[in-house]
Amino acid sequence: MSQSVKIDEDGKLFQLGTDHLSYVFRVVGNGELEHLYFGPRIHDLDRAQGLFAREERKVTPTWEVRNEKLQPELLAFEYPPAGHGDFRTPAYEIVQGNGSRTSEFRYAGFRIDRGKQRLPGLPSSFDDDGDGAQTLVISLRDELIGCSIELCYTVFPHDDVLVRSSRVTNLGTSPVVVESSASLSLDLPDSKYDFVQLSGAWARENRLSRSRLHPGVQEIHSTRGASSHQHNPFFMLASPTTTEQSGTAIGVNLIYSGNFRDRIEVDHYGTTRVQVGINPDGFAWTLDPQASFQTPEAVLSMGLHGFNSLSEQLARFITRHVANPRFARSPRPIVINNWEATYFDFDQPKLLDIAGRAKDLGIELFVLDDGWFGHRDDATTSLGDWVPYSRKLPGGIDGLSGAIHDLGLQFGLWFEPEMVSMDSHVRRLHPDWLIGPPGRSLTLQRSQYVLDMSNSKVVDYLYDEMASLIRSARIDYIKWDMNRNITEAFGRTIPTDRQGEFPHRYILGVYDLYARLIKEFPDLLFESCASGGGRFDLGMMYYAPQAWTSDDTDAVERALTQYATSYGYPQSTMGAHVSEVPNHETGRVTSLATRGNIAFFGDLGYELDVSTADEEDLAGIRRQISWYKQYRNVLQYGKLARLVSPYEDDGNTMAWQITSLDGTVTIMSCLNILSRPNPPIQRIRLTDLDPNSQYAIKGKEGIYFGDELMNVGILIPQSFNPITHKGRGDFTTHLLVIERLDNGDHVSCARKQSQ
Ligand code: GLA
Repeated sequence: MSQSVKIDEDGKLFQLGTDHLSYVFRVVGNGELEHLYFGPRIHDLDRAQGLFAREERKVTPTWEVRNEKLQPELLAFEYPPAGHGDFRTPAYEIVQGNGSRTSEFRYAGFRIDRGKQRLPGLPSSFDDDGDGAQTLVISLRDELIGCSIELCYTVFPHDDVLVRSSRVTNLGTSPVVVESSASLSLDLPDSKYDFVQLSGAWARENRLSRSRLHPGVQEIHSTRGASSHQHNPFFMLASPTTTEQSGTAIGVNLIYSGNFRDRIEVDHYGTTRVQVGINPDGFAWTLDPQASFQTPEAVLSMGLHGFNSLSEQLARFITRHVANPRFARSPRPIVINNWEATYFDFDQPKLLDIAGRAKDLGIELFVLDDGWFGHRDDATTSLGDWVPYSRKLPGGIDGLSGAIHDLGLQFGLWFEPEMVSMDSHVRRLHPDWLIGPPGRSLTLQRSQYVLDMSNSKVVDYLYDEMASLIRSARIDYIKWDMNRNITEAFGRTIPTDRQGEFPHRYILGVYDLYARLIKEFPDLLFESCASGGGRFDLGMMYYAPQAWTSDDTDAVERALTQYATSYGYPQSTMGAHVSEVPNHETGRVTSLATRGNIAFFGDLGYELDVSTADEEDLAGIRRQISWYKQYRNVLQYGKLARLVSPYEDDGNTMAWQITSLDGTVTIMSCLNILSRPNPPIQRIRLTDLDPNSQYAIKGKEGIYFGDELMNVGILIPQSFNPITHKGRGDFTTHLLVIERLDNGDHVSCARKQSQ
């Protein structure tokens, strides 16, 4: 395998290579960087001529550079400048003392670093395992402004992932204002792509949307102060014929939790510019002399064998190089959460009753959700006062946690650190800690306001409150919630002419609090939450390796959310609970089996009142838990492959599978949403099996070759059989465990013979 970063002798041609992908750019005559190629791996080039020839066109700006004519509208830029005749969206805009936004950053050199350092203060990728990462840093200079830009490219060769970011430094003597600074800009040579992305709403997060690119700008973004329920920062550009199993798909994500913008621009030459980074809308960062601004990191990959191959690369990358390594590969506990069981109406005996029964069922961790602090009996009060509610918990958190541990369970606690109620001590003591300009009316959401996390005093206060509580009680897990978005964005400690820094400074404060708590309590498992999946992003996962995927726990709705989320995130990041029926968001009644079969494809938990559940349900839950424990490692860390999409055809069927990394076990789940009369015959064809190995399906007779299971497929019976009158009807799932019977030895022989 050749090096991940290759540079030609002149230091002008840069070739980055992963195991299966190449990324190439060069320096052109005037020192601009021209992007040449991103795609399936190609041979290293000696010279980047010929294939990358440009055509000259009429009626377009032209730069005369020595003997070369460069037409900026026809150049594929690595990091496109503003104001020089490329009328597409620039990657950066820097406003200078004289008001100009035009800049000329030119190539000034490079360096290569081994591995990947974490970014200070920001979540970022890392290579703790020594997985062969290499980082190329390209320096650009604009002498007139006196600024430099460093473009950083880390190659993770075995995940087929590139990570990019940029860093602008003011080397001059007067301030400049950075009004935009993309983490990644990528010019693709054509526009024959589908834009595939995850959009939704509260309780309906991450629904798959796929549409052809069209001329002009198309984008998803957030201005809410969080990555949002509405659009996830992850998206794909796929060939129109790409399926789960075949075709190419580019995947892009951002390791960031605040306002983002994913912009795709198709121009009049049919080329496509992809740009990802902090949303420039409402952003302006003043750079004093000698100061730098570091963008968050963008993640870039390409799957060559369908969406499944891209998801596999990203899942591996996130697990090894982004998610908090203390937990990223460890078994996630099976939790019981009291929220849907009690809401605010609980006391210690009630909680212990639930916990005792949960322990008996095999559950491992009890999570006390909202309502344990101040005098919080509903959502209108006490946020910000992280003092136990003595009427409900006379022994405090320490007393409850001790009793829970005595039952043999771990203990988890809910916090919503960033929020404050009007009725709270902290608001009365520090009214200026709320976000919002003085004198303005503040918009309420869920009866609460937002604390100004850009103010270090607020972060210090929250750290002291949370850390002293964690020190005083045994707490194994924290669910960190965030239940509203930011309005009236304004930080009172930020100078008036720097309010454009507020949204980013807010999220830096959130990251700081996470980092400080993790430093003091490295064994504390965080689950992030923002009314479900309102901040389900890689920035959060760097600290909190799992997230509450959605407030909707209905199995059918969850299936749609979890299926789409799996395109960009591993299943170990998705908290998935079995709740009671009728479901609290949809009123739908599904069987316990169906609820389990969907929740198994994430970090399993229960969110119902086991102290009042009937014996049949309790027995079912006990069986589910013992089954999940047996296959937990496969389910949380195995290779997921989507088989039948609920976003295609009539949307009535969803099937997916997870295979253990050693290939010995595959678990397949198929959901049929509505029971249809006399429906088409349904066969599910598995994938990722060894064609020459023999397999057994648990609970069924017969032995099958892998090629049979993958090509003939497994017949899934109709949801209701009108001949036998068997079957549950609507919302039926089938879960199959397929075990390989041999150790795969013969495979190499069979392959050798056929060669
Ligand atoms: C949010 C979360 C829920 C629960 C409630 C508590 O809605 O998503 O899981 O924690 O807050 O108020």
